[in-house]
Parts: sequence; C-alpha cells; structure tokens
Amino acid sequence: MRRFVYCKVVLTTSLVWVLVDVFLLLYFSECNKCDNKKDHSLLPALRAVMSRTHVAPGEMGKAVVIPKDEQEKMKELFKINQFNLMASDMIALNRSLPDVRLDGCKTKTYPDDLPNTSIVIVFHNEAWSTLLRTIHSILLVDDASERDFLKKKLEHHVATLEVPMRILRMEQRSGLIRARLRGAAATRGQVITFLDAHCECTVGWLEPLLARIKEDRRAVVCPIIDVISDETFEYMAGSDMTYGGFNWKLNFRWYPVPQREMDRRKGDRTLPVRTPTMAGGLFSIDRTYFEEIGTYDSGMDIWGGENLEMSFRIWQCGGSLEIVTCSHVGHVFRKATPYSFPGGTGQVINKNNRRLAEVWMDEFKDFFYIISPGVVRVDYGDVSSRKALRESLKCKPFSWYLENIYPDSQIPRRYYSLGEIRNVETNQCVDNMGRKENEKVFSYTADKEIRTDDLCLDASRLNGPVVMLKCHHMKGNQMFEYDAERLTLLHVNSNQCLDMPSEEDKMVPTLRDCSGRRSQQWILRNMTLSV
Ligand SMILES: *[C@@H]1O[C@H](CO)[C@@H](O)[C@H](O)[C@H]1NC(C)=O
Ligand SMILES: *[C@@H]1O[C@H](CO)[C@@H](O)[C@H](O)[C@H]1NC(C)=O
Ligand SMILES: *[C@@H]1O[C@H](CO)[C@@H](O)[C@H](O)[C@H]1NC(C)=O
Repeated sequence: MRRFVYCKVVLTTSLVWVLVDVFLLLYFSECNKCDNKKDHSLLPALRAVMSRTHVAPGEMGKAVVIPKDEQEKMKELFKINQFNLMASDMIALNRSLPDVRLDGCKTKTYPDDLPNTSIVIVFHNEAWSTLLRTIHSILLVDDASERDFLKKKLEHHVATLEVPMRILRMEQRSGLIRARLRGAAATRGQVITFLDAHCECTVGWLEPLLARIKEDRRAVVCPIIDVISDETFEYMAGSDMTYGGFNWKLNFRWYPVPQREMDRRKGDRTLPVRTPTMAGGLFSIDRTYFEEIGTYDSGMDIWGGENLEMSFRIWQCGGSLEIVTCSHVGHVFRKATPYSFPGGTGQVINKNNRRLAEVWMDEFKDFFYIISPGVVRVDYGDVSSRKALRESLKCKPFSWYLENIYPDSQIPRRYYSLGEIRNVETNQCVDNMGRKENEKVFSYTADKEIRTDDLCLDASRLNGPVVMLKCHHMKGNQMFEYDAERLTLLHVNSNQCLDMPSEEDKMVPTLRDCSGRRSQQWILRNMTLSV
C-alpha cells in the first residue's frame, strides 16, 4: 500500500497585497453565500453553460466558454488579475483534470519512505478561486494514490483542510524572492516545494519529484509545466520535449531537448531531463541542500533573474537541475503582469540580471552587456557575499557549464569575435535590421556560425541574399568559413563569398563567386566594453 504523502502548506504574502486580497475574498465569499439567489453575479453565465453541457464548467480541464451576454462583464473582471476571473470563479475548486502523463509514468512505483515536503506558495493579490484551486489540487492529488482505500477519510481531510496551513504576512512589499526566503525559513519538511498561487496539480505529481530527491539530495527537480489558458482555463499538457535555456538578454526561453539528452536516457522519455535552466515558479529541493547551496540572492529585488541565478549556481556548484517528466502541474500563464514594480519592471530585472552576470558568468557576461545597452550603468549593489559563496562552494567556471551542461547554448563556448563585422571597401557594418539597439553586434563562433543572440546568418541559394534565421546548429546553410588573412567569409555549402549588396539587392549582403574584391573582405573584431 502506498503511503499518504504528508504535506504542509505555508502561504507567504506581503501586506500590500493582503489588503487587496481581503477585498477580493470578501467579494467572492459574499457571492458564495448567496449561491441560490437570483442576483448572484455569476449565476446566469453558470446556468447557461451548464444547461448546454450538462456538466459543471471546466471539468476534466475543459475550456469554459462565457455566454455572449456576459462577455462585457467578463472583460471587466479580466483586468483585475489579467486572466478570466469569471471563468475561474465558475469552475469547481476541486475540478477534475485529465491524466496527461506518459503511459510509462502511470505504472511506475515509488518507495514507501519518500521524504515529506513543505509547500511554499507566495501570492500577491491573487484571486480567491485560483489560490483555493491550487491548494485543493495539492491536497486532492496528493492523496489520489490512495483514493480507493481512504475515500471517506480523504473527503473529511479536504473538507476541513486538516493539512496544517500557515499564512505568513510580510510587513512590507518584499517581492517574490524575499517572500520565498521567509516562507522557506518557516518550513520543517525534508523537502521544500515552491509553487505559484495559480496552479493546478495533477494526479501523481508529487511522488516522482520526491523520489528523485530521495535518490540524490542534490537534484533540484521541476515538474512539466502544463498550460492553463488565461482566457478559458482549459488545461493543456506541456511537452516533455522542451527544456529551459536563455538568450543573450538573459531571458528564460524554452528550447527543444537536444538529441544528446535523448541518447543519455536511451530514449526513455519517462526519465528526468537534465535542463540547463528552470522557469523558476515550480520546483522541489531538499531543505538542507537549499541552505547549503545559498538559498536565493537576497540582494535581488522583487522578481526576475532569480531563476537563472539559481540554475547556474546549482550546476556550477555540483548539483543538478532536472525536469521530472512524470510530474505535471498546470499554471495559468498571463500575457501581462497585473503588478507594478517600484521603479519599473525593466530597472528591477536589469539590476537582478547584472548581479547574476557579475557573480556567475565570468567573461561571458559580455554577451549580455553588449546586447543590452544601458545595462552596464545600472547599480547592482554589493555582490561580495555571493562571490564569497561561489568561492566557498568551490564552484566551476561558467565555461564548464557551457561546455558540459549547455553546449547548444545561444552563448558560444568558444568564439572568434564578438562585435561588428565591417566591410573593407565601404567601411559599412553588417546589421540586423529590425532591431533598434546594437543591431550591429555579431559573434563569429567556433562552430562557424555568424550569430546575434539566437539568430544566425543563413543563405539558401546561389547568388542569393543572406537572411537572419533561428540558429539550428546543423551547419549547412548557416556555416561560414572565415579566412583571417584574405578576410573572406566563405559560405561553405555554396562555395561562394559574402559580398556587399549591389543596388538591386536592397542593402542586403549577398553571396557571389569569390573574386578577392575588396567588397568581399570583412574585418571581424571584438568590441571592447567599458564596464
Ligand atoms: C468536488 O467536491 C464536491 C463537493 O464536495 C463533490 O461532490 C465532487 O464529487 C468533487 N469533485 C471531484 C472531481 O472530486
Ligand atoms: C518530516 O520528516 C522529518 C524527519 O523524518 C520529521 O522530523 C518531521 O516531523 C516530518 N514532518 C512532518 C510535517 O511530518
Ligand atoms: C575575441 O575574444 C575571444 C574571447 O576572449 C578570443 O578567444 C578571441 O581570440 C578574440 N578575437 C579577436 C579577433 O581578438
């Protein structure tokens, strides 16, 4: 018999948001009380949906379609949280969800003595229904493995929310990072699981995370993040074929899982994927390891960059970061943030990113600085304690991380140049039109790509113009051979040279037969940064 995974829910919030939360809470609890009254704000919409479908809205993760005559109101409510609050409020707090796991996951068994976990959820101004649905789904799904044995007990459990739950309130607006630190400090479980406040956990989500940590306490594990539509609250399974990366601007991005990672797992997609970075919202970590490895950088403000900081730190300092593909948790993705940051979003994120670049990225921070003009002027405070941490943990250099963990990174491990590509005849530079700032920054890499961020110079026909396309790391149309003596850039596939455009080429550099003309000579150099 599998044992019930005990869990403790710790909620952390900040005071500013509490005030607004209380408002929301009252508003909606009033609605809950007047369920049978005609003036219930959601009742007409609810009735319309239920009479059409004969099931409660959103069950099995289905989309909720708001009837036409309610759509004005729906739009008003949308603004509060930047998701469809009306739809969310119509859906049961314990709605059913599909089992989206790979078949191989459904039959896996886990040890009886899994570690216990505390769950920390930070919320800012969260809607009542999404927050409560997060908590209900944790409890329900947690217990699901024993649903047949313990049905009565379990229902009782949920009905009374018997799982110990604490709400910590920050005295002032402190942001996600500091609020999470506060929450983590209050936990007693062997593992800490961080979740966002608008999630839904699906069957069997927790056991594989805990089992992996039991195997290796230095494994930091994330579920697959499924998508809950901000418009309809439809539940859509996320892919096990993408993993976390980042671009030159240090934005987190999803990229396809490379072949080497499929090979390492011998094609078994139910095994954890080693991921270079994590999105940051949802993960589990051994509590003592979390402290050992330096929790979060408490010098970072509000939110942003903390996920990459933690990702680099885990890998460089001897841990591993993995996506456990048998664990699925849904998350409401919003197109816009409903929060405002003091000083503006950009400034906060630039400061946080500078901190992580200065501490963890060594000379590769140049890629970030060169593509983000102005960022070098941002004050990032004191990072000496974080550098001391890196020292005391004897962490590896960023080049090791690029070489071993993220060889398909947008930042090349080895490169010939990072700067402009200047034509000898005209003294003009290749530029990536369509971008306002630093459009003339390219790196010619050891893999013989000419790239800026994740775009590569690509040419697909003889005498044709070059274009910027997503880098594919497959050489082919994106491979150029630079001859540092003759200063030519040979497009190997076509055996032609990069040349200045003629009149009819509309300013776009183009391929032509190699002739040794000065218009086919290019100077590639490293730009110097004044940091
Ligand atoms: C949700 O809770 C209600 C009321 O307790 C119950 O009737 C319903 O079966 C539950 N739904 C699921 C999917 O467990
Ligand atoms: C979790 O496990 C630890 C160590 O076995 C134990 O001390 C602690 O009381 C457990 N926590 C809960 C909430 O069960
Ligand atoms: C540019 O800098 C890189 C990294 O330091 C170095 O390997 C390369 O040789 C430099 N290239 C030139 C043309 O100076």
